[in-house]
Amino acid sequence: MVCRRRGPLRGAVDVPGDKSVSHRALIFPALATSPSRVRGLLDAGDVHSTRRAVEALGAVVRGEEAYVVVEPPERLHEPGDVVDCGNSGTSLRLLAGVLAGVPGLSVLTGDESLRRRPVRRVIDPLRHMGAVLHAREGDRLPPLVIRGGPLHGARHELPVASAQVKSALLLAGLSAEGETTVVEPARSRDHSERLLAAMGVPLRIDGLSVTVSPGRPRGGTIEVPGDVSSAAFFLCAAAGLAGSEVTVRNCGLNPSRTGVLDVLEAMGAELWVANRTDEGEPRGDVTVRPGMLEGTVIEGPLVPRLIDELPVIMVLATQAEGTTVVRDAGELRVKESDRLAVMGEALRAAGADVRLFDDGCEIRGPTRLRAVDVRTRLDHRVAMSMTVAQLFAGGEPVTLDDVACVGTSFPRFFELLDRLCGGAA
Ligand code: S3P
Repeated sequence: MVCRRRGPLRGAVDVPGDKSVSHRALIFPALATSPSRVRGLLDAGDVHSTRRAVEALGAVVRGEEAYVVVEPPERLHEPGDVVDCGNSGTSLRLLAGVLAGVPGLSVLTGDESLRRRPVRRVIDPLRHMGAVLHAREGDRLPPLVIRGGPLHGARHELPVASAQVKSALLLAGLSAEGETTVVEPARSRDHSERLLAAMGVPLRIDGLSVTVSPGRPRGGTIEVPGDVSSAAFFLCAAAGLAGSEVTVRNCGLNPSRTGVLDVLEAMGAELWVANRTDEGEPRGDVTVRPGMLEGTVIEGPLVPRLIDELPVIMVLATQAEGTTVVRDAGELRVKESDRLAVMGEALRAAGADVRLFDDGCEIRGPTRLRAVDVRTRLDHRVAMSMTVAQLFAGGEPVTLDDVACVGTSFPRFFELLDRLCGGAA
């Protein structure tokens, strides 16, 4: 696809449902004692993968007016075939935690990108709970084979902040004997904790530690907010393009996810929130206008709060005066692609001044970007970030070799971006 848009971006849009919350809004109800209704579920490839998986385990998922209804089975059963999680790391890792306690044999696999992503991070702690799991290349990579059986609770100290690993262990803890505690080095997104508590599962949170007791959630109504990670592409584009003003309505504002908003403010963009509500998952209407952007430092506990937004933040950093430094973000190397390497290479080819570290990067700006050919490598956020980069290339084209990957999280991305560029949204 050849991108040739021009800014500014003006208008108000709704972004689709939050991807992280949507996975959980299928998986937790599939374990529940009664049906759940979900409003705002993301309709995109990764969530379809989770839907097919919970159906394979016995749940019934159907549409009913504005809702998706999840009817749990009496007990989850082993799937009749290999479960294909597509591009979705969250599906694979959360389901590993569920299946560790489901009697029978399960095999989880995925596309070429997912089969390059590490699974030892769930295998090791799940084994500590008595689970039997195996994976390819010395337990490093999917496919993942699970012989489900009885589990016992355990205390886990995670080496990296990971909501996928934390959630997998909490899910395993629901079917284990005794309590399960997960301690993180920094706070990762807490959607699982919020949803489990809302579904009546006793949970203790103490600083960076969360403890769950065995039990089944009870069904209920789940409202999925708009995905702040999808909103970030429009908000970052607006922040860097003179004359822009973009509002994203009903945007998720869970504090464990809003690091990108903090960074936009720190860089000098004008940002405000209206119509804020704090029930369940916080949400509100976020408006951004550009400012005199300056470089900033992103490190420490801020990193898990914006980990998925770093590719587009790297793009915006090329437009800021001075140096932006990203540290403590080695996790970016094991996402849908090695995002540090792939974004570093693409931005450099577009003329940006980028230095890479093992755990981050340093970007000096401002630079007017230029035409570039990008390999998106099955990574939706690389494709969308480099589409935003083109807006900073003064009308020169950016060519993306494959944009089908955008369908995993945000199928209407190009359509909404066109609306904002036309100013008619
Ligand atoms: C997610 C957690 C994060 C994030 C991913 C979604 C989740 O991954 O990058 O896109 O829904 O739990 P890690 O848990 O590996 O940090």
